[in-house]
Amino acid sequence: MIYINIGRRELGKSTLALFMVSQLPKRAILDPRRMIRRVDSRTEYVTNIMDARDALHAMVFDDESDEVIYQPEEDDLDLAFEQWTRTLKTIVIQQPEREIGIFVDEASFYNLETPTFMWLAKCSLRDYTHIIITAHQPKDIPTGIRAIADHWFVFYTTQETDLAKIAEKSPSAAREAKALKGRSYVHWNDTKAELAINKNPSSWYISMRNSVPTTVTPKGSEVAHE
Ligand SMILES: Nc1ncnc2c1ncn2[C@@H]1O[C@H](COP(=O)(O)OP(=O)(O)O)[C@@H](O)[C@H]1O
Ligand SMILES: [Mg+2]
Repeated sequence: MIYINIGRRELGKSTLALFMVSQLPKRAILDPRRMIRRVDSRTEYVTNIMDARDALHAMVFDDESDEVIYQPEEDDLDLAFEQWTRTLKTIVIQQPEREIGIFVDEASFYNLETPTFMWLAKCSLRDYTHIIITAHQPKDIPTGIRAIADHWFVFYTTQETDLAKIAEKSPSAAREAKALKGRSYVHWNDTKAELAINKNPSSWYISMRNSVPTTVTPKGSEVAHE
């Protein structure tokens, strides 16, 4: 299944994607901007493709973790993407019925139209492999992927060229996207041709960082007022 989250910056596309992918038992996340900082004993952070490959295999075949967040240090993000998706393809071929979430943050950083990614998008089992992509504008996602996306999550959008691309899928989604307020989004379910609007951002909010500063003072003291 393919999900795309689009819209202007800072509205919550990546947060929504993280919320969505977190519903799945195993998760492969590509986060070049290093936005995600959540700490969890079942989450592994990797910064080069060799480690990403090892960690993804260990996650799926040895249950060593539930989430691998690849924050590439490599300069060539296209190559990093190609190798990461190749690893995922070999995993999906070996375990097609493994429920896995694949979250690609910021589609504009990569060429998504590689044979490997297109294989994942088109040939993986839709009920088991969930691919979530965020993008600023529809044009950042190749037409071939937009054409087969099952779910669109569209945040406030004003640019006519963007709205036109959304309208190619659903004129009503484009119309609603123009009128959205704050962090509300339009959900276009292309499989069922259904439109819904979520006006309750707290229903999907999830923190990308959970590193709360350590408190060293003992608890239990009573507050005294002068
Ligand atoms: N549902 C939400 N409720 C409250 N704050 C949110 C919500 N979603 C995102 N934020 C905050 O808004 C900022 C931008 O979120 P982000 O997901 O990075 O947006 P985008 O990917 O659209 O640029 C972050 O500081 C994030 O914590
Ligand atoms: Mg983002």
